[in-house]
Amino acid sequence: MPSNVHFHDQRKQAAETSLLAETLSGFAASPKWISPKYFYDRRGSELFEQICRQPEYYPTRTEEAILAQAAGSIAAIAGHHASLVELGSGASRKVRLLLEAMHPTSYLGIDISRDFLLSSTTRLAGDYPWLDVHAACADFSQPMHLPDGFDGAHPLAFFPGSSIGNFTPEQATAFLGNLHNLLPKGGGLLIGVDLVKDTQVLEAAYNDRAGVTAAFNLNLLERIRTELDSDIDPTRFVHHAFFNEHESRIEMHLISPAKQQVRIDGHAFDFAAGESLHTENSYKYTAESFCDLAGNAGFKSIARWSDPRQLFSVHYLERE
Ligand code: AVI
Repeated sequence: MPSNVHFHDQRKQAAETSLLAETLSGFAASPKWISPKYFYDRRGSELFEQICRQPEYYPTRTEEAILAQAAGSIAAIAGHHASLVELGSGASRKVRLLLEAMHPTSYLGIDISRDFLLSSTTRLAGDYPWLDVHAACADFSQPMHLPDGFDGAHPLAFFPGSSIGNFTPEQATAFLGNLHNLLPKGGGLLIGVDLVKDTQVLEAAYNDRAGVTAAFNLNLLERIRTELDSDIDPTRFVHHAFFNEHESRIEMHLISPAKQQVRIDGHAFDFAAGESLHTENSYKYTAESFCDLAGNAGFKSIARWSDPRQLFSVHYLERE
């Protein structure tokens, strides 16, 4: 354990137990589903980083460009003596843009993946020796608290990457409610939101030509095969992603082209030919629909930045 990172284990239960329990209940449901939080083992996290570099996947580079331009204004709104609380691992270039513009006294990274969190916060602590770095291993879809010893007097929470889109609107409201409890009145929330746009642009982003998103999706089955007692064969499923306009979301599925039975921990699950396992939703908002959602959770809009093509939006909200 590196000595220059204060590590706080806030996990409620072992990740392996939840993968088994949630896989069994998700495979028994109709339609079958599994939570996208299980994408992010070491291999999944590496594949996600590769997705972010694909030419079709615009969110990462667009958000980064917005932040590079807006960092000075963000620092001015956050004020002196702010601390930064990142929901995610701190591996990205984005948080560095903020650290350099804001020069906060302390940083807290919160992530479910312990290994990824530790390696990224250790790198941050090495690169910014003046920063008091904390790492909390926690599932941020659950209620959270600031760890003891972390100076969070004037916090700015940072939730980049449009990860809010992976929650249903109800889950997103509950998540913002958790953040409302975590932050003091007047605390800031800087959040990246992917915008509704042309279907072709959206669908290309989740069907990259190099097949990285497909590999990322199929890695879920590889986890089940290797981490649980299962005979599931990832080569017998195919990646499928499309924009569901009515729900305003990209849906990712794994389709079983042929009828098959898979066994997991002594339970048998039948797939009909063409049946899907629903693995992820990625909701797309308009600037207005997102401000309404945040408003319902007790956050007021202070500022918003976008790119010239209006692909992506970064919102500065204040906890009321
Ligand atoms: C992490 N999250 C915001 C990504 C998204 O775009 O919904 C996850 C992802 N899934 C497929 N590609 C990227």
